[in-house]
Amino acid sequence: MPRTPATAAASKPAASSSPAWSSRHLLGLQELSADEIRLILRQAEAYRELATSNAKKSALLKGRLVVTMFVEPSTRTKVSFNLAARRLGADTLDFAAGSSSLSKGETLVDTALNIEAMAIDILVVRHPASGSPESLTRQVKSAVVNAGDGAHEHPTQGLLDVDTILAHKGKVEGLRVGIVGDILHSRVARSNIWALTKLGAEVWVCGPSTLIPAELQEFGVKISHDFDDLLPKLDVVNILRIQLERIKGPPMFPSIREYARLFGLNGARLKTAKKDILVMHPGPLNRGVEITPDVADGPRSVILDQVAHGLAVRMAVLHRAAGFAPFATGDSPAEARSAKAGGPQ
Ligand code: NCD
Repeated sequence: MPRTPATAAASKPAASSSPAWSSRHLLGLQELSADEIRLILRQAEAYRELATSNAKKSALLKGRLVVTMFVEPSTRTKVSFNLAARRLGADTLDFAAGSSSLSKGETLVDTALNIEAMAIDILVVRHPASGSPESLTRQVKSAVVNAGDGAHEHPTQGLLDVDTILAHKGKVEGLRVGIVGDILHSRVARSNIWALTKLGAEVWVCGPSTLIPAELQEFGVKISHDFDDLLPKLDVVNILRIQLERIKGPPMFPSIREYARLFGLNGARLKTAKKDILVMHPGPLNRGVEITPDVADGPRSVILDQVAHGLAVRMAVLHRAAGFAPFATGDSPAEARSAKAGGPQ
């Protein structure tokens, strides 16, 4: 059995310092309050130094087992979770879905229950079906962290994007942020929209009308189909990939070339933007389609910074998933450990 029953810890408030986390699971940003998002980002701030150093490690999660279970391709996210877990001293296990019994028809829940019988504490899941991490929380005792479920949410990407904006702009409130591309199939767009609107940004989505769900307006998001008109007004532009693997049936826009011409961010277009605009992209990049190499590698791009911010954010999320209370303001990871503030419930 897992050493730290998630069900008990999830419902029990942290023993000591307030504020406390609302849950150990992280399924999406829709259900988090602005305060809890800020709390996770503050926690990430405390981990910034550890996240960027190979020399130092925390022992916070010593003896804990973090399993990554990715039933969809990933490069950055899986590596980032593994590294975050190791820098907190956890043991890690990567469950390779392709070569597992999942490919023999075993259900996700059965697979997860079998892995859990080996005493795991945190299950990091990526799955093509929206809502699958949530349904796992009803079946397994481990804390579940969503690493991307279908077109639903990718909460750690949303958090690291906000963390990157904060690092460069010093604030999120009042900024005009454009998310450009395949919004319809993008869990990254959804998690960004939740986090950014909760923190007071003015959020725009932009792309061909077939790739923008109209109901987004209900959530206070503004819609544009004219990138040239929108770009000069933006403080931040987050460029998304066309998720061709999710587009079934007839094409949703005339051609890739046409898409690149109307919605691709290239050097000429970037000249019309504010001088201090931040150019973001969650990766993987399709260079020459949604973004040209000169822009992706240029001075306004913070794409690799986003990856670095992902580590600290994921350390914070694993800290939360392991049932440790948030650090008090000013605590360093070491101090928080020795004070045993709100250790695992
Ligand atoms: C994204 C994803 O998998 O949702 N990538 C990522 O996690 N960095 C976006 C994408 O696949 O386009």
